Amino acid sequence: MDLLPKDSLEIIRNADRIVFLTGAGISNESGIPTFRGEGGLWKNFRAEDLATTSAFQKDPNLVWEWYDWRRGICQNAKPNAGHLTIASWQKKSKSVSLITQNVDGLHPRAGSHSLIELHGNIFKARCTKCSEKFHIIDDGLDKPGLKYCKLCESLLRPDIVWFGEEYNQTLLTKSWEYCKQSQVVFVIGTSANVSVPANLAQTAVRNGAIGIEINPEETNLTASMKHHFDGKSGEILPKIWNEVFPNEPIK
Ligand code: APR
Repeated sequence: MDLLPKDSLEIIRNADRIVFLTGAGISNESGIPTFRGEGGLWKNFRAEDLATTSAFQKDPNLVWEWYDWRRGICQNAKPNAGHLTIASWQKKSKSVSLITQNVDGLHPRAGSHSLIELHGNIFKARCTKCSEKFHIIDDGLDKPGLKYCKLCESLLRPDIVWFGEEYNQTLLTKSWEYCKQSQVVFVIGTSANVSVPANLAQTAVRNGAIGIEINPEETNLTASMKHHFDGKSGEILPKIWNEVFPNEPIK
């Protein structure tokens, strides 16, 4: 039994632009906890205590400790079939854009090289004074605890967009453009609790794109989606790939 009807398959095959918008759920099958689901990170920690500038000013040690712990989980995790399917789609067509809320680095490791990491990347750090950026592992900064700028020796912070902070305007502008130009928007593994990514999906649909949501739960975007698949993205995305590109392997 096919998941997608013929008309949707045709729209996907003929699309000039497809946008994949992903959230923590796509990495759940890789063993990385989501934020708000069962066992989610925000069940065990308070976002206000860890993912804000005031939390960092109050106790930078605690914040680095938490991010060092999360980075270890991400480092040990592997991309799953959901990440790999999107990477294959991007290898097959230049007009596939990936916008992710995830900071876990699994999309680039799966082979997605043109992606927008709206909320930053847990493997990167930024100087609180001169804003120089570093790769925590490649630049030998992965010892637990406080990290210091190699240029001006000031304290480094995780290169992550914290609650209440501005998004990178360049990334945001590009994301709006992609969504406005898209004929298909896949919304995968996000509770749509954060307004900007949710509005991006709405913008795509308002501009005529068909929405395809993959999530075991419904969200406040579900009503505007043409299709909602109640399930795991690591299982459903490969099935959709096989329907759109029969007999073509995901590589
Ligand atoms: N496949 C698809 N969806 C899944 C899967 C799965 N295997 N497992 C869980 N989900 C869904 C959950 O049902 C939930 O709706 O993924 C969603 C995860 O939601 P959140 O934990 O809220 O994560 P996300 O939407 O990415 O959060 C957005 O909020 O805390 C901030 O900056 C943080 O980027 C994060 C943002």
